[in-house]
Order: sequence, then C-alpha cells, then structure tokens
Amino acid sequence: MKFFVDTADVAEIRSLAGTGLLDGVTTNPSLIAKSGRKMSEVIAEICALVPGPVSAEVTATDHETMLKEGRYLRAIAPNVAVKVPLTEAGLRTCKVLAEEGTPVNVTLCFSANQALLAAKAGAAFISPFVGRLDDIGQDGMGLIADVVQIYRNYAFKTEVLVASIRHPVHVLQAARLGAHVGTMPPAVIRALFRHPLTDKGLEAFLADWAKTGQSIL
Ligand code: G3P
Repeated sequence: MKFFVDTADVAEIRSLAGTGLLDGVTTNPSLIAKSGRKMSEVIAEICALVPGPVSAEVTATDHETMLKEGRYLRAIAPNVAVKVPLTEAGLRTCKVLAEEGTPVNVTLCFSANQALLAAKAGAAFISPFVGRLDDIGQDGMGLIADVVQIYRNYAFKTEVLVASIRHPVHVLQAARLGAHVGTMPPAVIRALFRHPLTDKGLEAFLADWAKTGQSIL
C-alpha cells in the first residue's frame, strides 16, 4: 500500500520524505488555508520535495472554471495530480483532464456508486472519506471494501485512495482490504512506527549491551 501524507505543512513533509517511505501528498483547501501560504508556492515546494503525486484541489464549482484551475495547477509541476470534488461538474472536468493526460484525484466520495462514476470518468485516484462516514455512524471501511471489489470486477485502473484516515486501525483495515493508497495526517504515519514492546525491548538490549563494555565501531 502506498502512503501519502495529508497536509500542506512543508516542514512535516520534508521530515517524512526523509524516511524514504512517503509515496505522495494530498492537500485540500482547508489544509492550504491552515498553512497560511499562497497555494501555488506551497504546491511547488511540496512537488520539489516528493517525487510522487501531489494532489492540488480546484475550488471552482462550475466545469469551465474547474478546467482552467485544473490546467493551471497541473502546470505548476509534472507531479501535480488535480483534485476535483465528486460532483457532476467535477466528473466532467475529470474526464477532460484525464484525456489530456493529467492524473485526477476525485475527492469527497461517500458512496460506491460515486466511486463507479469516478472510475468511468477516468480518475487516477478515488478518495472515499472513511473518517467522516464513521463520524456519522456509517461504515467507512465497508465503503472501501465495496469500491475495491467493484473496481476489481471491471478491472478499472483507478486507485482506491483511502482518505480521512484518523488512526492506525484505519490503515490496517485499508491494507487488509487491498486499497492502493492511504492518505493520513503526519501524526498517524508517525504512530505506525511505534510499539511499546519495541521501546521496552530496545531498552533491555541496550542495557545488556552497555554491561559488555563493547562498541561495534
Ligand atoms: O484530504 C481529505 C481528507 O483526508 C480529509 O480528512 O480528517 O478532514 O476528514 P478529514
């Protein structure tokens, strides 16, 4: 499973990119607003740090303006993936951009039928929001299972990008279901490294090692 980080915080992205485990980045208008910076500058900086796809989201709601915004964003760097919302105008825009060779991430997906439409529109990625479905008492991971199955049934190339991940169990469930990508906040990625028994075991190994008086180098 590919790991994308869901943030527009360049310092966080730089730090996570240093692990060599980061496959891409997703942003959205709320995350750009939180950065307090000009969108085109932030996206250009992120694209220079991470070679994988960097999602930059349009903010227009009509097809013509979405298309102009999508082309503008795509011109920022060759690894920009244009993000469009799952609306009729968004999918029209997705189809045109995809035909032009632009990878499109269709976002704000909350049903399997929406995901089916996005695949038919040529999306490179579909972003079902699991956390926001869980928040309202619906089954976020059930949606991922459906979308993975439906895409397999028809051999769609669209990758299932699990979004709105809130905790490590979401990551585990997404991986079990065979989702292609998970995008998650930096804190969730960092939490994946940790286990109390790793810390405890390392502490004991190092204490025993210190008693030997040896050093490897
Ligand atoms: O970027 C889209 C998605 O990952 C947002 O997550 O936590 O705001 O529901 P969240």
